[in-house]
Amino acid sequence: MVNVSLHDVTLTYPGATRPSIDAIDLEIEHGEFLVLVGPSGCGKSTTLRALAGLEFPDSGRIAFGDRDVTGVDGSQRDVAMVFQSYALYPHMTVAGNMEFSLKNTRVPAAERKRLIAKAAELLELSELLDRKPRELSGGQRQRVAMGRAIVRRPAVFLMDEPLSNLDAKLRVQTRGQIAALQRTLDVTTVYVTHDQTEAMTMGDRVVVMNQGRIEQVGTPRELYDEPETLFVASFIGSPQMNLVEGSWSDAEGARVGDLALPFHAPGHSGKTLTYGIRPEDLALVAQPGPDAALVRVTVELVEELGSDTYVYGTGHGARWTARLPKGAQPAIGSELAFAVAESSVIAFDPTSGHRVQPAG
Ligand SMILES: Nc1ncnc2c1ncn2[C@@H]1O[C@H](COP(=O)(O)OP(=O)(O)OP(=O)(O)O)[C@@H](O)[C@H]1O
Ligand SMILES: [Mg+2]
Repeated sequence: MVNVSLHDVTLTYPGATRPSIDAIDLEIEHGEFLVLVGPSGCGKSTTLRALAGLEFPDSGRIAFGDRDVTGVDGSQRDVAMVFQSYALYPHMTVAGNMEFSLKNTRVPAAERKRLIAKAAELLELSELLDRKPRELSGGQRQRVAMGRAIVRRPAVFLMDEPLSNLDAKLRVQTRGQIAALQRTLDVTTVYVTHDQTEAMTMGDRVVVMNQGRIEQVGTPRELYDEPETLFVASFIGSPQMNLVEGSWSDAEGARVGDLALPFHAPGHSGKTLTYGIRPEDLALVAQPGPDAALVRVTVELVEELGSDTYVYGTGHGARWTARLPKGAQPAIGSELAFAVAESSVIAFDPTSGHRVQPAG
């Protein structure tokens, strides 16, 4: 059941020369956790604000269920938004902050109390209800902001980078809590972040945006394994996917300098292609022979991350990143050789940025 939909939504801010979001089409299922991700300025917050009824599109249509809400004010949309700056009322207690909107909408006192107690329990805030925001840690404040949204029992949650004020460890902890909470509450949620790891770990589906447009929508797995554009390939995954310039011809096959890659694209003969290979798909070969199909990389930098080791280097006129087996300690300046499976090479047309499908 589709709960929220945007059809061809374009929005230009007053005085701006180009739209901040351009022809956005999205269907969000009931109870789904959808994440919008993309670089700064790509239109994530604008999309969320259009859903919240804080901004109105120049054209297109927004619907909640069967109801067209395109011109409907935010207060009449049954949405609750959590912002990056939680802006709690400093003079009110935790309970008071959560109660505020309930009072405004004339929820009876006994019901208010029940809703606050329930939200506090879910968010582990029961002991803190009488404190003021200044007496709370950053993570606790963030949970109060969530509580304020939850008690309203909205049809849709909208969250704009709610974790960005937290330190790295608390972010990881809290993102798990929010994802679990969303499943418990079963409320359709649109969540904005610029952090691809956050997007990949939290979302049922992820929308990658770039310059006001949607690049691709998919499950985290689909975006990682099957990026449809160069932008998505480079944005999703850390360290970044290897994207190396090469060519394809019927006579020579796929080439990157003197390297022969296992990729077949008849119909693209004579073309420049950008080949994509994930760092973990470069398989270290212990005793390499004189094989033109091996990626040979001169090591320039080794990054030890505890569980993983990444090497960065150059070879075949390109830059490469590879993940090494645990415990590997290659010397700077040494040459490593890697095998590549055919299934792990993808290719893009560098002019259009679109994926080129291999011949089956
Ligand atoms: N009130 C405004 N008036 C004019 N232009 C705006 C306004 N708000 C945002 N913009 C512009 O619209 C574009 C999209 O902005 P938006 O806030 O949606 O980006 P974002 O993806 O949320 O970025 P960030 O990750 O930095 O929060 C940007 O180019 C921005 O400068
Ligand atoms: Mg934003």
